[in-house]
Amino acid sequence: MNILCLDQEIELANAVANLLGCECVTPEQRYFPDGEHYLRFSDDIFNEDVFVFFNLHQPDNKILPLLFTVGYLRDRGVKRIVLVTPYLPYMRQDIQFKSGECVTSRYFSKIVSDSLDGLITVDPHLHRYHSLDEIYSIPSTVIHATNAIAEWITNNVEHPVIIGPDDESRQWAETVAQLASCPVTVLRKTRLGDRDVRVEMEDSHEYKHHQPVMVDDIISTGKTVIETSRLMALAGMKSPVVIGVHAVLAKGAATELDQSLIASWLTCNTISHASNGIDLSTDIATAIRRFWTLEKA
Ligand code: R5P
Repeated sequence: MNILCLDQEIELANAVANLLGCECVTPEQRYFPDGEHYLRFSDDIFNEDVFVFFNLHQPDNKILPLLFTVGYLRDRGVKRIVLVTPYLPYMRQDIQFKSGECVTSRYFSKIVSDSLDGLITVDPHLHRYHSLDEIYSIPSTVIHATNAIAEWITNNVEHPVIIGPDDESRQWAETVAQLASCPVTVLRKTRLGDRDVRVEMEDSHEYKHHQPVMVDDIISTGKTVIETSRLMALAGMKSPVVIGVHAVLAKGAATELDQSLIASWLTCNTISHASNGIDLSTDIATAIRRFWTLEKA
């Protein structure tokens, strides 16, 4: 098996390759003075299957190098090229909210599906789509972070109650609560703008003595977390521990979170950040091994 890593941050890819007992190969990459991309691969590494580890968080400058890599591998006769992107971008624009808007999730999935033979990712933002198969025409594996999150809560939090800040988070919040054997409550959120949300909460009296643990898939601007914790403070609840799967973190978000009413926050290592406290390398390695074995069968 070959793991080819296009990421600059190769810690996670290396950890996954170690677990799989294979080498993680990185090409030489740089920019020419005119800003165009230079890529050079070592000659002797490729066979039938290549897993391209490339975290497509902030994807716009990554798609071209990915397509160049696929072109090169096809020229070398590689049969199956599987993309491993722990964070799958362009999932949130899944509908036209205003006329004329580009439903980027559909066009992005077409670019990926037209070039690659498979996709492995962690908890993509499935809201109006119920499965990646609705937009991706290649086989995909979705790894869930819920087991690892529930284990972290069980080991680190006493008397927890899981808080899902909005209906989209229900799928993670309820599963985590079930796995960690604790109660859960899901709030209502209305998004008023990119950095503006309104959250509503029913009476939370019964959870005043619990330790709230807010669970969400993405922390981007952090406004969902900050607004929810403000409301919880008003309701007399304890400051929440916040767990996000993906540390997308728009500019300034980490600082705002550090200054907010939350007790602490951590993320899974799908996007490299200082807040990474939950390691998913074993889950990713298992998914790659399964994908490889199934495709071989
Ligand atoms: C979507 O609605 C997601 O589940 C998250 O709640 C959302 O992406 C968080 O975004 P932000 O951090 O910008 O509030």
